[in-house]
Amino acid sequence: PYEVWRAMRDRQPVYLDQRRGFWALSRYEDVAAALKDTTRFSSAHGNVLELMSPEPVDSGMMILNDPPGHTRLRQLVSRAFTLRRTAALEEDVRVVCRELLDAIDASSEVDLMQEYAAQIPSRVISRLLGVPGEDRERIRLLIDECFHLDEEHGFVNDVALTAMGELGGYLDRRLRHLAEEPGDDLLSALTQTGLTRRETVDFAMLLVMAGTETVGRLLGWAALLLDEHPDQRADLVADPSLIPRAVEEVLRFEGPSPVQARFTTEDVTLHGVTIPARSVVLLLTSSAGRDERQYGPDAGVFDLHREPRHHVSFGYGVHFCLGASLARLESRVALEELLARFPTWSVDRDGSVRAHTSTVRGWSRLLVRLDTPT
Ligand code: HEM
Repeated sequence: PYEVWRAMRDRQPVYLDQRRGFWALSRYEDVAAALKDTTRFSSAHGNVLELMSPEPVDSGMMILNDPPGHTRLRQLVSRAFTLRRTAALEEDVRVVCRELLDAIDASSEVDLMQEYAAQIPSRVISRLLGVPGEDRERIRLLIDECFHLDEEHGFVNDVALTAMGELGGYLDRRLRHLAEEPGDDLLSALTQTGLTRRETVDFAMLLVMAGTETVGRLLGWAALLLDEHPDQRADLVADPSLIPRAVEEVLRFEGPSPVQARFTTEDVTLHGVTIPARSVVLLLTSSAGRDERQYGPDAGVFDLHREPRHHVSFGYGVHFCLGASLARLESRVALEELLARFPTWSVDRDGSVRAHTSTVRGWSRLLVRLDTPT
């Protein structure tokens, strides 16, 4: 879509798709301003094109609330989901990555999405939530099913909805149990914050929905982009302290969450065009990541050595990704471990399969030949 997005930025920065009935903003500056402006660009009607509702939705998920409801939820959750809790997961993340790498048979082609990238976040989240060892595999499979894609119905399908119902039920039962016998995990800590049980379940579901597929896709893109830029991959092997910069560049260049939807509460005029009140507006954060106005004429080049500049791939303003530090931690450790074990690889693009919905851009299957160092 990058050519289309560039044409939109240059010629129609306020774009109307009449057939599908939405507007789109594509320039960095406009996207960032709209993300910040929660008064005129509301999140309460949904934040995914396919699920927008003309009336505000009643949800305990902070991502679907505007201030002040959002402020309350985010403050309460932040008491339990702290930076310290995230940082403490580093060893767990490393163990997960090593176990997965140990299990890989590198003598033939490997699907790096299914065998590595997509496995890490669901395993980490179930550890973060304190899912007991005996339940983890079942929960991981349920999380997978929440992201089931159906040819006909996209991501809103029976398999995904049933899995979400089951996962919600599991979390609810777990919370009842933890209310009596708390542990030192995130779910137990959440029971002490003043959230209702429904809000706590909604939040845990949001963590799963927001923090699983995104991280997996990011790692898939990293594997592909580094293979396309072997010199930069070699730089990372030589100096792993550059990995966090590579992660930011992948986020800018191929953000796994490319579009955030909003609903206008009043008329908004931009670049001489008026978007009427009660319109669906797509904020194209991935287009913003390629905007020459923000990143210069080589915005379309992947370069981890570029001067770092702010990106909106984790959103911006009050809804800025709550899990950004966890996402950064997981991505850094996953790349550290992968590069230490397999410093080079080659992606078989023809055998790989793209996943396409309005919410994610990425690969569902990434066939790779991994080279073991001699
Ligand atoms: C919000 C991206 C990983 C939890 C967001 C938003 C974006 C985003 C763009 C803003 C949505 C909006 O404005 O409507 C990403 C990307 C990730 C990632 C690209 C990985 C590379 C995670 C992880 C977690 C997480 C690992 C938690 C485990 C959340 C939550 C919100 C959020 C709870 C809602 C915050 C709010 O509404 O205040 N994320 N995310 N995300 N993310 Fe992430």
